[in-house]
Amino acid sequence: MKLGTPLSDTAVRVMLLGSGELGKEVAIELQRLGVEVVAVDRYPNAPAMQVAHRSHVIPMTDPQVLNGLIMAEAPHIIVPEIEAIATEVLADIEAAGMARVIPTARAVQLTMNREGIRRLAAEELGLPTSPYAFAGSAQELAAGAETVGYPCFVKPVMSSSGKGQSFVESPDEIADAWTYAQDSGRVAGARVIVEGRIDFDFEITLLTVRSRAADGSTRTDFCAPIGHRQVKGDYVESWQPQAMSPAALAASQDIAGKVTDALGGFGVFGVELFVKGDQVWFSEVSPRPHDTGLVTLASQTMSEFALHARAILGLPVDVTQREPAASAVIYGGMDAQGVAFEGVAEALSVPTADLRLFGKPEAYERRRMGVATARGADVDEARERAREAAGRVKVVPG
Ligand SMILES: Nc1ncnc2c1ncn2[C@@H]1O[C@H](COP(=O)(O)OP(=O)(O)OP(=O)(O)O)[C@@H](O)[C@H]1O
Ligand SMILES: [Mg+2]
Repeated sequence: MKLGTPLSDTAVRVMLLGSGELGKEVAIELQRLGVEVVAVDRYPNAPAMQVAHRSHVIPMTDPQVLNGLIMAEAPHIIVPEIEAIATEVLADIEAAGMARVIPTARAVQLTMNREGIRRLAAEELGLPTSPYAFAGSAQELAAGAETVGYPCFVKPVMSSSGKGQSFVESPDEIADAWTYAQDSGRVAGARVIVEGRIDFDFEITLLTVRSRAADGSTRTDFCAPIGHRQVKGDYVESWQPQAMSPAALAASQDIAGKVTDALGGFGVFGVELFVKGDQVWFSEVSPRPHDTGLVTLASQTMSEFALHARAILGLPVDVTQREPAASAVIYGGMDAQGVAFEGVAEALSVPTADLRLFGKPEAYERRRMGVATARGADVDEARERAREAAGRVKVVPG
């Protein structure tokens, strides 16, 4: 692919569907290569919109509106950043050869639904996963929980970031878990997955990059494993590398290679895995940069965002890790518009610390408003520094 001049006839146009903090970093990397960036989200002044050539506010789940915008903007490449998109439109656009969908329309469709990706991974590819069952009613859920065993997790098949999820320890909690999933899922009357709990030592994100090799074939590279800590289905800190046995690393790369091969296309994938000793289970995969991968802004020669930008443009990538590093999330801590950040100088005086403040127009109590990163001689030191830096940033009313 030739790169061109933005806002001219030679421009390579990329449309981001979803313009959050991950999209913002991808947009910046694309801007550096002179790509014309069009940012789309359902609310104005979203993070990536602030660094794009143009932006549009639309309901991305409305097929007609989404199709109309794609026709009007005529992007060469469409990069979904979130799951709540009318993906059937992307399939039509791709089939008609009007744009490339990253990584592929099918991958975007399969991974937006826990049922699609779980059946592909466990039933078609034979990868190890937690025991699971799907349910369309409270009765089916109760039966499914009996087959997978207690304790278990109940999740809407269409949801992310822990929304609508319950950890269920006994049958008398099933009715509440069903109701909670219905109330918080993306669509009413939604199916749920019930998964037996994996008693893991730790969980990782294995960032996996599919890119064009020098000979035109597709190659797969693995970043060093990222360890992370989740609270209520949302990540609070991540670090790289996560120490693990050579056997577990080999098993992780094998699983990630198989699932990303099956999904196809170019770009970064965040493969989520559970690890216990030498044993590894596949959990889920994002066909795009992963939130826990924000740590790569500090740890790698090329961040996951730079890797994604390069890979989707058919350019070579380098997944080398430089130093142990960590990231720690900065939450809103309040519901308010136009908040301000105090303690930034104090945070940045922690050795090696850096910050990303996402510029979100509105804060919520549990909304991710920024992230601190830091490096260290080892992961422990990096985590300590990142936590310290994040803790020094105070969100205050505007
Ligand atoms: N079967 C399981 N066994 C043990 N822990 C689990 C299991 N399922 C989920 N968890 C825990 O809950 C967290 C969130 O689950 P999961 O990744 O499936 O949903 P999500 O985070 O909402 O999805 P997304 O990553 O798309 O935002 C996991 O990272 C893990 O810590
Ligand atoms: Mg997850």
